[in-house]
Amino acid sequence: MINEKDLLNVSVTSAPFVQEMMSATYNMWRLGWDERNGGNISYLLTEEEVAPYLDVNQAVRTAILDFPVPELANRYFIVTGSGKYFKNVKDNPEDCLGIIRVDGTGNSITLLWGLENDGKPTSELPSHFMSHIARLKVDKDHRIIMHNHASNLLGMTFTHELDEKSFTKTLWQMCTECIVVFPDGIGILPWMVPGTDEIGQRTAEKMIDHRLVIWPFHGIFGAGTTMDETFGLIETAEKAAQIYTIINSHQGGVKQVITDQNLADLAKAFGVTPIEGVLSI
Ligand code: 13P
Ligand code: ZN
Repeated sequence: MINEKDLLNVSVTSAPFVQEMMSATYNMWRLGWDERNGGNISYLLTEEEVAPYLDVNQAVRTAILDFPVPELANRYFIVTGSGKYFKNVKDNPEDCLGIIRVDGTGNSITLLWGLENDGKPTSELPSHFMSHIARLKVDKDHRIIMHNHASNLLGMTFTHELDEKSFTKTLWQMCTECIVVFPDGIGILPWMVPGTDEIGQRTAEKMIDHRLVIWPFHGIFGAGTTMDETFGLIETAEKAAQIYTIINSHQGGVKQVITDQNLADLAKAFGVTPIEGVLSI
């Protein structure tokens, strides 16, 4: 027998933003970026988007935040759950995803749907929330924070020096389109314990200037206005890291490169401004 709650759940999972979370997580797993429960996504939603699918006055439960976020007061998000396997999200969204709202003071969050079986939002919520705050300051259309363990980018943090400018330049040199997709370059943190308020704060500081932030020996954070754009941003950097890995394992080594002049010409042709201090022209 179908009860009222089941009917409501059917309609929530049909919401476009839930569908986007389901396909993004599945594609991220399929590409090997999200082994086990690796990675997390949070997606800023409006009340107008959420209200047709659930009763926004019906709280499932409330949790106090140990890092208050008054800047996000009354904002809605759909987030991945902590410990949830990305490969399973599309088959079990009610268990793996949650729709939450930050309260009017920014001190707590209310779960409105999902995270069944007493699930919790991602352990990286501090980094997500603080990065949303940082990106909204510089981009009013910002909506997505995505974290994953993209294999080649992660591998490159062992083999490439961890200097933001030289890391950025190396990635720009790997594929012609990189400088066009991320002219704002790559931010890099020192190695830190994940899941803490401190790494959240440091990630957010980098997010003011860069939509991509690397956590060495761990993974990457990406920010964007849509799921496709954010996915594509990480996908492009990961492709460049893959080329880096391929050419560095090639016996013959590198025979020619994309020059700084080529990169400057690209930036001009596509109307983007590369971050300062990377190109030597
Ligand atoms: P969660 O399962 O808590 O989202 O953590 C995964 C992860 O990638 C931690 O950095
Ligand atoms: Zn991680």
